[in-house]
Amino acid sequence: MLTINCIGAGRWGPNLIRGFSNLPDVRVHMVCDLNEQRLEMVRQRIPGIETTTDPHAVIDDRTADAIVVATPVQSHYALTKQALDAGKHVLVEKPLCGSVEQCAALSTLAKTRGLVLAVGHVFLFNNGVRKVRELIHSGDMGRVHYIYATRTNLGPIRDDVNASWDLAAHDISIFDYWLNAPAESVTARGECYLHRPLDDVVVASYTYPDNVLACAHTSWLNPKKVREITVVGEKKMIVWDDMDLIEPVRVYDKSVNLERESEYADSFGAARMIIRDGDVLIPKIAAGEPLQAECRHFVECIMEGQEPINNAAAATQVVRALVATDDSMRAHGAEVSIEAPVESGAQELVATGI
Ligand SMILES: NC(=O)c1ccc[n+]([C@@H]2O[C@H](COP(=O)([O-])OP(=O)(O)OC[C@H]3O[C@@H](n4cnc5c(N)ncnc54)[C@H](O)[C@@H]3O)[C@@H](O)[C@H]2O)c1
Repeated sequence: MLTINCIGAGRWGPNLIRGFSNLPDVRVHMVCDLNEQRLEMVRQRIPGIETTTDPHAVIDDRTADAIVVATPVQSHYALTKQALDAGKHVLVEKPLCGSVEQCAALSTLAKTRGLVLAVGHVFLFNNGVRKVRELIHSGDMGRVHYIYATRTNLGPIRDDVNASWDLAAHDISIFDYWLNAPAESVTARGECYLHRPLDDVVVASYTYPDNVLACAHTSWLNPKKVREITVVGEKKMIVWDDMDLIEPVRVYDKSVNLERESEYADSFGAARMIIRDGDVLIPKIAAGEPLQAECRHFVECIMEGQEPINNAAAATQVVRALVATDDSMRAHGAEVSIEAPVESGAQELVATGI
């Protein structure tokens, strides 16, 4: 039996509490939140659960094997460090920390202490996202030209981070996972329309190796809830729509071919563009709740001493890209290089066979 305690019971924490409570051989023992009303809600949902407003009580609980941190990002570093120092495995929500240096410090601490440090990049456990990765790496779509992500809705409006840290964190983790590499540079524009110092809309373009362009449009100030990513390849195109619960992935057998040996070709190398408009394939996607799979993976990694696929190295890459996105926005869209990592998180994903 594994005992897990949770810090943070706001909008997202209760989902993690439920995810772990559903697992056999796992018990959620204590929940901490600074807000007593949130704790009252937890007590009503899970009779008998212990609650506290003191994070130390949860971390120092001698019966706990692992701590879940589901608080705003500003507190991730301190709470995760305390938990790792106390010898607990940690699942901390995304983004891992507010700075690359803090991410690196936590990653090193977890490794030194032999503890599992996983980060809540839940889309790595989404069966549609996994299917798209499989399709990209099958080679059937040729090289990837560009990727375009839209993640919009009216709310929830955060007051701790901008739309990029809240929403593009997901898209960057997906881009890295699909392309097996971190982004090399970014140009981004953002605007604050709600009269606060936080950007409500961010439009960012990341350059990946081999000149793959990956764009993310994120906003909580938009009439429509969209969670969609288009991948345009040399031979095929794919659309993943997370709002489509039945058929989230569509593969379009469409491309533009260059025909050089035609009457239109001239001596300067001009070629005829042939539009190929083929079938649309809808692959079967296995049912499954990504959050539940994330909780199960964390527990398995603890039990089997494995490195999680949502590890600190991969999460640090996301933070590196988010910091560069902010820098580019401050420089009115100038291209900002994303410092090459010493150790690539995406490469570690490959190493784990995912
Ligand atoms: N993986 C996902 O899809 C997903 C979705 C939503 C949120 N999140 C992440 O989850 C985290 C929390 O987001 P949220 O939407 O639940 O925020 P929230 O503001 O709704 O809730 C945060 C809760 O943490 C409590 N809290 C803050 N500091 C604390 C501390 N030091 N000790 C104990 N409790 C503390 C607050 O009282 C609040 O109840 C963020 O990192 C966010 O990015 C992830």
